[in-house]
Amino acid sequence: MKKATKMAALMLALAMMTTTLTACSGNADSNSSSTTTDTTVTNSQTQESESTPAETGAQEAAPEADDNTLTFGTNAEFPPFEFVTSSGVIDQYDGIDMAIAKQIAETNGMTAEIENMEFASLLVALQNGQIDAAIAGMTITDERKEEADFSIPYYTATQVMIMREDSDIASANDLEGKKICVIEGYTGEVCVRDMGYPYEAFKKGTDAIMELVNGKCDVVILDSATSQKYVSDNEGLKIVEDPSAFESEEYAIAVKKGNTELLDKINTAIDAMLADGTIAELGAKYTEELSAE
Ligand code: ARG
Repeated sequence: MKKATKMAALMLALAMMTTTLTACSGNADSNSSSTTTDTTVTNSQTQESESTPAETGAQEAAPEADDNTLTFGTNAEFPPFEFVTSSGVIDQYDGIDMAIAKQIAETNGMTAEIENMEFASLLVALQNGQIDAAIAGMTITDERKEEADFSIPYYTATQVMIMREDSDIASANDLEGKKICVIEGYTGEVCVRDMGYPYEAFKKGTDAIMELVNGKCDVVILDSATSQKYVSDNEGLKIVEDPSAFESEEYAIAVKKGNTELLDKINTAIDAMLADGTIAELGAKYTEELSAE
């Protein structure tokens, strides 16, 4: 009887976890797992149970096993998390994520290397072994969890609306009839699509911002910290938040499904960096550094 109840609770928890992604609710599933009763399914347990033995077996020859390099994929178009600069923490790459990647590698006696690619290519690159991990301000979503395993979250963000200073948009309801711009493949695009509004998608954040500055679009939906950076870089822009429309999102590092060995190393390192304040310090450092430019 007791066992049956537990089983039912577990099944319910699993069912809740597989619900499809709703607008901007990147963390919807982690909420439901934490509200589960005595079966409390944690994130990492879930991820382990999701990988099949076959997948785990095929992981053994992951790139990090045979050399001392940890190859992180990113899309360095996302300040303050990753951007290209003359001398970054890893080659020409700098930002909060790059500093985290470097430290994860160093903690494990390895050297971090960056492969810069399109954001939409990152999960494929993980699957085909081109990279060991993806660190790109990547929001955990149910859809992505089908393609990769995620580390513990290291940063909480939300989508915001960037507009010209004279705009009358005060909440997401006012998006009706406005020309909306998003970045291809970002969670902001998913939000706007789920809300049912037409939109135009750009390859880069800076491209969408240019359209906004030039009056060709009315509003850009983008992650909070990156939006702050663009607003401080460009005269005449402002940010409007609407927490009722845009739920919080959690950034995490993705690894190939079933690569628990690497995931454990990453989680241990992130855990330590969260506990000793390193990540908070990096956040402060890179947001100040970027707005002082
Ligand atoms: N957080 C958003 C997402 O996961 C945007 C991430 C974009 N990151 C980047 N490095 N370009 O979809």
